[in-house]
Amino acid sequence: MITNNFIFQNTTKIYFGNEQLVYLPQEVKKYGNRVLLTYGGGSIKRTGLYDKILKVLIEAGLTVFEFGGIEPNPRHTTVNQGVKICIEKDIDVLLAVGGGSTIDCTKIIAAARYYKGDSWDLIIHKAEIKKAMPLLTVLTLAATGSEMDNAAVISNVETKQKIGLLHPLLQPTASFLDPENTYTVNSFQTAAGSADIMAHIFDVCYFNRYPKMDMLDKVMEAVLKTVVKYAPIAVKIPDDYEARSNLMWASSWALNGFLQGGPRQMTTCHAMEHELSAFYDITHGLGLAIIIPRWMEYILDNQTAKDIKKFGVNVFGLSADTTDMNGAKSAIQRLKKFFYEELGLQSRLSDLGIDCRNFSIMAEKACRGDKIMGYRDLTPKDVEKIFEMCL
Ligand code: NZQ
Ligand code: ZN
Repeated sequence: MITNNFIFQNTTKIYFGNEQLVYLPQEVKKYGNRVLLTYGGGSIKRTGLYDKILKVLIEAGLTVFEFGGIEPNPRHTTVNQGVKICIEKDIDVLLAVGGGSTIDCTKIIAAARYYKGDSWDLIIHKAEIKKAMPLLTVLTLAATGSEMDNAAVISNVETKQKIGLLHPLLQPTASFLDPENTYTVNSFQTAAGSADIMAHIFDVCYFNRYPKMDMLDKVMEAVLKTVVKYAPIAVKIPDDYEARSNLMWASSWALNGFLQGGPRQMTTCHAMEHELSAFYDITHGLGLAIIIPRWMEYILDNQTAKDIKKFGVNVFGLSADTTDMNGAKSAIQRLKKFFYEELGLQSRLSDLGIDCRNFSIMAEKACRGDKIMGYRDLTPKDVEKIFEMCL
């Protein structure tokens, strides 16, 4: 019998709101005085957040070093550069300021600091994570949940691999979530991040094969409804505090383990999307928004129709007064309308200049030599067909 035994523990302390940075120095000082501030391509300098954080840290007497230039879909070579600084400067604690890419890269810097070889070895489980530096985050984009989870996703451009790693030592010790720090996220990244939040719920837990946890299903529907309500507002009105704060908290709770309520299944759409960003370096949430409705269409049958219809009824308020199959079809259409019309995301891989030439190898890689074992098992042939439906 399949049961839903699980262990839930989340140790990240959250400081939520716009006046919380005053607590940053005391969190840093728990681990030492030498802090490495890591960030991405420079948005934090343009928004003024960099100056604000530096001021708070320096006034508290901390010694601050920095490592900028972490790219979206962060690379293991960038991790290696960060590790070098940690060793040279004898860093005590890491402070990642940015979105999922900056946070993920910094998580692996934290672990690779104590490993003598290439950080990629940790990602592919050639070596085990034994120890990691303490990590704090200041989140600037609501999307991945990295601020409150123990996952990191790293790319290797030479081998065209993008791989996610989960480890308890990658959990941030504290994260600062100020919705105002996301006012400057453009409409595209806001939309893509919102699609990612929804994808975490679909992929990790809402559509699963384990015994139903009705209480969790209802919370998931509430989080999905939150995104449906507030993402279009944030896309249109970037400095709407209510919209930004709801999206930010939804981001953290979609993937912090609470909603899972059962054994971790393979995250089907994420497995497919990671191949797209590994091969074409596209934005993660956009890839998901293109894949998810096609995946739903592909797996639609008499059994899955019930769950997909339920999603349409409870999240989008569609009529329940129809067959499961018709209800599911309407739910998928409604989701497409949401992603492509209301959030303005591109709807097809061909819009991104992607054609079918790599689909077969991407499908093999997504299945890791076997199948994707999720809500519905998918073979490489299945995955290839779903990619084709996305063209
Ligand atoms: O690099 P900067 O200059 O900061 O600009 C970034 C970047 O260009 C910009 N941005 C971020 N905050 C901003 C801002 N621009 C203006 N104002 C702000 N406040 O947005 C762009 C995208 O940033 P990125 O960090 O790449 O986005 P996201 O948070 O969506 O992270 C995506 C990465 O996380 C991985 C994805 O695969 C991808 O590599 N994921 C991590 C997960 C996890 N750790 O649990 C789970 C997810 O499923 C996902 O796979
Ligand atoms: Zn994701």
